[in-house]
Amino acid sequence: MEEELKGLGHEIDRVDVIDHRIDGCIGCWACAEIPDEPGCVLGDGTEAIFERMIPTDAILFASPLYMWGFASQLKAFLDRCACLVKDYGGPNYKSLIGGKKSALLVTCMGPREKADLIQGIYKRFAGYAQLASVGELIVPNCTEPDQLAEDAKTQAKALARQIVG
Ligand SMILES: Cc1cc2nc3c(=O)[nH]c(=O)nc-3n(C[C@H](O)[C@H](O)[C@H](O)COP(=O)(O)O)c2cc1C
Repeated sequence: MEEELKGLGHEIDRVDVIDHRIDGCIGCWACAEIPDEPGCVLGDGTEAIFERMIPTDAILFASPLYMWGFASQLKAFLDRCACLVKDYGGPNYKSLIGGKKSALLVTCMGPREKADLIQGIYKRFAGYAQLASVGELIVPNCTEPDQLAEDAKTQAKALARQIVG
């Protein structure tokens, strides 16, 4: 997908969440008092990721399927994104990443049907964060990166085009 997007003239800022310290959200809601910034009181590496993510036009979330859901490092990051959503359900409801296009890419060992829960969570998250999701790509039977099925590569390129289209 990266190659496809670069070929189309787009800039990619890839964040590997495992390279950053992302502590678990403590649910203090101090961030709710700060309307125009993340406002998280935890001083770890997450703020630096927000600074890179907020100016972008589109966000692709990619994870291996772990226990039917997101890998824990990315799950921790999604929890921390709660500080980007302000006044959820209230009159001033907004998201600091609202309006951006988004997509989900998941690789898994099993069949596509077993990746239903992660897609459900992603769709709920996208709605909550006011993202304009263009879709999800599940790559089943995927254990060796260098043996990626040709149809998965074709689908990934199509999703890449959708996310910038
Ligand atoms: C802790 C753990 C949990 C996993 N849980 C699932 C699962 O629930 N369903 C599934 O199909 N594959 C599961 N897998 C397999 C991975 O999703 C699969 O190998 C994935 O394609 C690896 O992607 P990667 O090469 O990017 O690491 C699991 C693997 C690990 C290590």
